[in-house]
Amino acid sequence: MSNEHVFAPPAAFAAQAHVNGIDAYRKLYDQAATAPDQFWGDLARKELSWFQPFDTVLDWQPPFAKWFSGGKINASYNCLDRHLNEGRADKVAIAFEGEPGDERQITYRELHRLVVRFASILKARGHQAGDRAIIYMPMIPEAVVAMLACARLGITHSVVFGGFSAEALKARVEDLGAQLVLTADGGWRRGKKIALKATVNEALEDCTTVRDVIVYHRTGGEVNMIEGRDHWWHELEHLASDDCPAVPLDSEHPLFVLYTSGTTGKPKGILHTTAGYLLHTTMTMKWVFDLKQSDVYWCTADIGWVTGHSYIVYGPLSAGATSVLYEGAPDFPQYDRWWSLIAKYKVNTFYTSPTAIRALIKQGDHWPKAHDLSSLRLLGSVGEPINPAAWNWYHHVIGADRCPIVDTWWQTETGGILIAPMPGAVPLKPGSGTLPMPGIIAEVVDVHGKPVGENREGFLVIKRPWPGMLRTLWGDPERYQEAYWSRLPGIYFTGDAARRDQDGYFWVLGRVDDVMNVSGHRLSTMEVESALVHHPAVAEAAVVGKPHEITGQAVVCFVSLKAGHWNHEELGKELRAWVAKEIGSFARPEEIRFTESLPKTRSGKIMRRLLRELVTSNTVSGDVTTLEDLGVLTRLAAQNDDEA
Ligand code: WT7
Repeated sequence: MSNEHVFAPPAAFAAQAHVNGIDAYRKLYDQAATAPDQFWGDLARKELSWFQPFDTVLDWQPPFAKWFSGGKINASYNCLDRHLNEGRADKVAIAFEGEPGDERQITYRELHRLVVRFASILKARGHQAGDRAIIYMPMIPEAVVAMLACARLGITHSVVFGGFSAEALKARVEDLGAQLVLTADGGWRRGKKIALKATVNEALEDCTTVRDVIVYHRTGGEVNMIEGRDHWWHELEHLASDDCPAVPLDSEHPLFVLYTSGTTGKPKGILHTTAGYLLHTTMTMKWVFDLKQSDVYWCTADIGWVTGHSYIVYGPLSAGATSVLYEGAPDFPQYDRWWSLIAKYKVNTFYTSPTAIRALIKQGDHWPKAHDLSSLRLLGSVGEPINPAAWNWYHHVIGADRCPIVDTWWQTETGGILIAPMPGAVPLKPGSGTLPMPGIIAEVVDVHGKPVGENREGFLVIKRPWPGMLRTLWGDPERYQEAYWSRLPGIYFTGDAARRDQDGYFWVLGRVDDVMNVSGHRLSTMEVESALVHHPAVAEAAVVGKPHEITGQAVVCFVSLKAGHWNHEELGKELRAWVAKEIGSFARPEEIRFTESLPKTRSGKIMRRLLRELVTSNTVSGDVTTLEDLGVLTRLAAQNDDEA
């Protein structure tokens, strides 16, 4: 191995790991590469519980894949029922802490009971396999109950992150054609009530498809219930039964749709199905988190993002883990809430994002140092490349130089982790996701699909289907084909740039499209632009990501105004709030810059590359000969100097 800074797996860690040593990793990887059907077929039979065995491992009609055809399975059964028969009934499934400090230790037996009873209520209300539900809830156990109850009946769910606005929620309800909405009166965030039900009411104003809204009582306070449509969760208890078996569903039954930003203004509904997704998330819990029966595992993501789906709900519960669930903000009531929870619950596996790490570094080492973090044995990172300063701090201050850090590269589309170290096997290089999972044929290629060679930048692609892959975009197979499979036919295009080093390690460099990554949340420039041009004062808008110390990228908007409007500080504030209202608070722009016109090519395309350069370096180089109005850029640059 090269002489860069390399961290070999600590001997004590490797000795107890599921996959011990690089040769063990290579053996698994080679098995999967040479005989993928046998590899995945064997694992699917061994690691999942089936109502009916499958007869085909993979049916691949590019770009459409069917995994484990002929099989009947249920995700809720795999996450709950089977554990009751395997001696985990009294094991804690969810260790919950609410932001105000309320606690619940929910065993597999109890979680099973809650899910069965809630599913029986949904069934009694006439909801069934093939229906769709929107889940818009705080980070409380009932959010997990809602997901698993849907899965139990075959209702396809779409969880919408609680930070999304009524507009965004409405678009998702409509696109999904949902009959059912599961929500709460509110949730706690930094000591304040986030009024979820009020947002649901606004989103459903002219909705014709939703017939039931079920509201969990969490925060208390004023709530407007619509007669006939809305029901309190606890008031439906009379419909509940303890007998509501998991429905045997096809392997490819749609488990959930999760909306994520693409390169247009309209979010993409990523569809994941049942058996393959469950296998992928279950296996990566073992391979990447080296999960053991005695572990206390905590992923800090929100259930509204894919990380929450795969690594708070389906992966950990299918693998029979004890998983911590925390409702609120990391800085409430103080900056040590997370560290105090690690000490309190004796968390040994901790999975978070670089943006959170950077924000906590800033508050000082005394916060983590005040707590006993000696239970930790493994740390994880996800969402963006982890920068050296954050890596070193995480390793040293949080992990006491003892815990490997698994840097996990994946996407909403991939369902689960694709590139990450197996911590007992693969030496770490800070900033690299290291090597692909078994069965994942990753490559860095040029525009023609040719491998670029060692240490050269190119597009990160995946050359073979894998069980957890997205199956299509909800209601839009053409866009699915176009977005992921059209540049290089038969090969999955990730949208990320990467380089592969002399040891075969992958270094992900960031997006190659107009997608920004703000605090680990994906946001498209087009989405923010279309929100801005809805404002009556805005003529045109161009949006770019600017490097940001804490959030990775920050949203910068260039805005030209309609005649009769002029720029002023108040309008800047108003536009920032407008975007937050249209999309969600996490999308609030850092800066609004007013300009007379935007730099465009002769064909009228906004030259975001130039604007990106401008916000990054304050200067513009490169080819500008296709610019219609060179003066525009000069003016933008000059304005920037004035502000400085
Ligand atoms: C994009 C996917 C996967 C769950 C969270 C985000 C970036 C993600 C890493 C990492 C470098 C990363 C990529 C990817 N990304 N993890 N470990 N190293 N980049 O899911 O919203 O679907 O975003 O996040 O650019 O394409 P997402």
